[in-house]
Amino acid sequence: MALLEIIRYPDERLRQASVPVEQFDEALRAFLVDLEETMRAGPGGVGIAAPQVGRFQRIAIVDVSGRKKCRSHGRLILVNPEIVEWEGLAVGREGCMSVPDYTGNVVRAERIRLTAFDGEGEPFELETEGFEARAIQHEIDHLDGLLFLDRLVSRRNDLFPRKVYRKKGG
Ligand code: NI
Repeated sequence: MALLEIIRYPDERLRQASVPVEQFDEALRAFLVDLEETMRAGPGGVGIAAPQVGRFQRIAIVDVSGRKKCRSHGRLILVNPEIVEWEGLAVGREGCMSVPDYTGNVVRAERIRLTAFDGEGEPFELETEGFEARAIQHEIDHLDGLLFLDRLVSRRNDLFPRKVYRKKGG
């Protein structure tokens, strides 16, 4: 196991679109272990996407089970995830390991249905809502070279330096 180095904004590599995984092998499983460890080592630590550590494949991990009052499917390994249905819109605060100094208000679908493969290559479907749905949408954005900064309702009013946010939020 190893902690992987997180690429930080404004590094242009974060803008690169990632390609689908085609081989579910031992190398993939070893990478997933390292990716999850890296996610859990970070502040917040509810999600991570492979391109954030310089691997440009469509792989993400989400786990919001540590959050209170939010629906969770536990630890989700998402390989080649595709959102197939969206419903509703909600504004919520997001942070990102690649943008450590800021949080921002972003509009996302309130409920989503997605298809993906797990680390063994088994396909599955999932319906979720609220913060878990938000986290998944955030990570899938990384796979398309998008950051939450690209989705701020207003760059002037909806971007918050971390320190200020911490003081306000307690
Ligand atoms: Ni992120």
